[in-house]
Amino acid sequence: KLKELKSLFKDDFLIGAAVTPKTIDSQKELIVQHFNSITAENEMKFERVHPLENQYSFEEADKLIEFANNHKLQMRGHTLVWHNQTPPWMFEQSDGSELEREALLSRMKAHIDTVLNRYYGKIYAWDVVNEAISDSDGQFLRDSKWRDIIGDDFIEKAFTYARAADPNALLFYNDYNEFVPEKRDKIYQLMKSMIDKGVPIDGIGLQGHWNLEYPSIDLMKEGIEKYASLGLQLHITELDVSMFLHEDKRTDLQAPTKEMLELQAIRYKEIFSLLKEYRKHITSVTFWGVADDYTWLDNFPVRGRKNWPFLFDQFHKPKQSYHELLKLN
Ligand code: G3I
Repeated sequence: KLKELKSLFKDDFLIGAAVTPKTIDSQKELIVQHFNSITAENEMKFERVHPLENQYSFEEADKLIEFANNHKLQMRGHTLVWHNQTPPWMFEQSDGSELEREALLSRMKAHIDTVLNRYYGKIYAWDVVNEAISDSDGQFLRDSKWRDIIGDDFIEKAFTYARAADPNALLFYNDYNEFVPEKRDKIYQLMKSMIDKGVPIDGIGLQGHWNLEYPSIDLMKEGIEKYASLGLQLHITELDVSMFLHEDKRTDLQAPTKEMLELQAIRYKEIFSLLKEYRKHITSVTFWGVADDYTWLDNFPVRGRKNWPFLFDQFHKPKQSYHELLKLN
């Protein structure tokens, strides 16, 4: 019988996976056996739970909550305020003109209140604000409707509303390219200024969309040290290790090569050995999926190109990457 991931890392951190209403069925065995935490890959995003101003739709999200409950899995909430997957009505008045600051703030508050009240006691940590920082040099926050209309303080407002709605939930800021030095420093600075102002925040979500080479273990180490110095919890929230380097746009591969599988296994071992070193700070590690039969990377950055980023293959069998992790002590 296979060693369960969750018991392999039981003294280190929670081991999670992003799931969907489909995968809790098709990948059920793996999820239940190996993981002790789940995140909804899309089902709790704004456009899914709140498609129209006076209409919430919680059916799909509820299925995932029920699954977590039935199998005693912890659940992370993803996500409340994001520039993506938020419907246009949110920013508009009924005549189509743009909403004003106070009106958008009260809609934001209503959304946060409704979602957090519904899942009170069922979701222990929320990605309150997702991806607000710019990837471009010389720009701090990303342009978005939230920021245009409310101003830079939309971030702190969201955290303040979330704390008021559910004082027990851990509140996270979540972002990608988290170890690219320029962006890392911006994330650090944002977190630092929030802490200095007394904005309620408990942790940083480091997404972990990585590949066979980038970011290097040294960069990860530097970044983790820097973030940890803030005294916030760290969650790896969306881990996957793509088989393709950034510039590799090949589309002709039907299966991962032997070399790719070996490199990925070494890579996973190095990553987890580093994460274990920081287990005082890193309290959860969530993969952005479960097994190679389904990953968002099949459509990114090249639409329709297969990728194999996880520890389990398309047939749900453990890969070399999984077996390498067993060697960690
Ligand atoms: O459900 C519809 C389907 O009805 C329709 O026919 C099809 C046509 O395109 O689209 C389907 O929706 C897609 C949805 O995933 C469900 O598969 C959307 O187009 C697609 O845009 C959406 O992608 C999601 C993406 O976020 C949206 O930005 C990915 O599944 C999801 O993995 C990804 O997750 C994000 C995190 O939330 C934040 N961090 C980055 C991460 C990866 O991009």
